[in-house]
Amino acid sequence: MSTLFDALQQRRSTRRFLNRSVEQSTLERILTSARRAPSGANLQPGFVHMLAGDPLAQLSERLCMAFEQSDTHPEEYDYFPQPMPAYLKARQREVGYALYNSLGIARRDIPGRLAQHRRNFQFFDAPVGLVITIERAMGKGCYMDLGMFIQSIFLAAQGEGVDSCGIGALASYHHIIRDQLDIPDNEVIVCGMALGYGDPQAPENQFETPRAPLDEYARFFGF
Ligand SMILES: Cc1cc2nc3c(=O)[nH]c(=O)nc-3n(C[C@H](O)[C@H](O)[C@H](O)COP(=O)(O)O)c2cc1C
Repeated sequence: MSTLFDALQQRRSTRRFLNRSVEQSTLERILTSARRAPSGANLQPGFVHMLAGDPLAQLSERLCMAFEQSDTHPEEYDYFPQPMPAYLKARQREVGYALYNSLGIARRDIPGRLAQHRRNFQFFDAPVGLVITIERAMGKGCYMDLGMFIQSIFLAAQGEGVDSCGIGALASYHHIIRDQLDIPDNEVIVCGMALGYGDPQAPENQFETPRAPLDEYARFFGF
């Protein structure tokens, strides 16, 4: 990775991984580098629960079972606005269709879509799964800090040649995760993440997601 700009341009979500483990020392370097992310008053909010091998397989099995039984429960926090404005819904749909198109899953192929959604709970078969939590008492600013930490994990991983995907879907099954990993009640389960070496041949790893043009989200004064 020659520059940070290259890293930002080239990072993309990886949803299929090679059967190749990631060294713990590599993961420790990723986390300690990512923890250099800034945070308000240097509070450094957020905890990372790192899983591989049997603990990952056991959590994944329970999550998949819950998914099959539609055993969801009220979210611990709102990720998305309720209701979702039309322009955001359009962005959400666009990325969903890009993913399903890459896999040849037709728009009305509900079983195909459900099968892909289930892969979230298998951490996309990655060798490493993360569960990211934050103390319940934290304010919105601390969630912003946690986001910076999460993006830094994505980029530090990339610097180590390790691919990634965020998994917000995990938060829908927070009671199972809490029970399985013995996470205390004063922590909110924010999201998961898959880490590993991406399969370069997999179609779902090929597509690039668009971004809104600069003038839709930035205004310049006095230039
Ligand atoms: C916190 C977070 C949670 C995410 N949750 C999911 C998820 O549950 N399932 C999924 O397939 N992708 C998930 N993603 C990936 C996003 O869909 C992806 O980042 C977005 O579409 C932009 O694509 P890109 O990462 O390839 O640039 C998540 C990303 C982030 C940052």
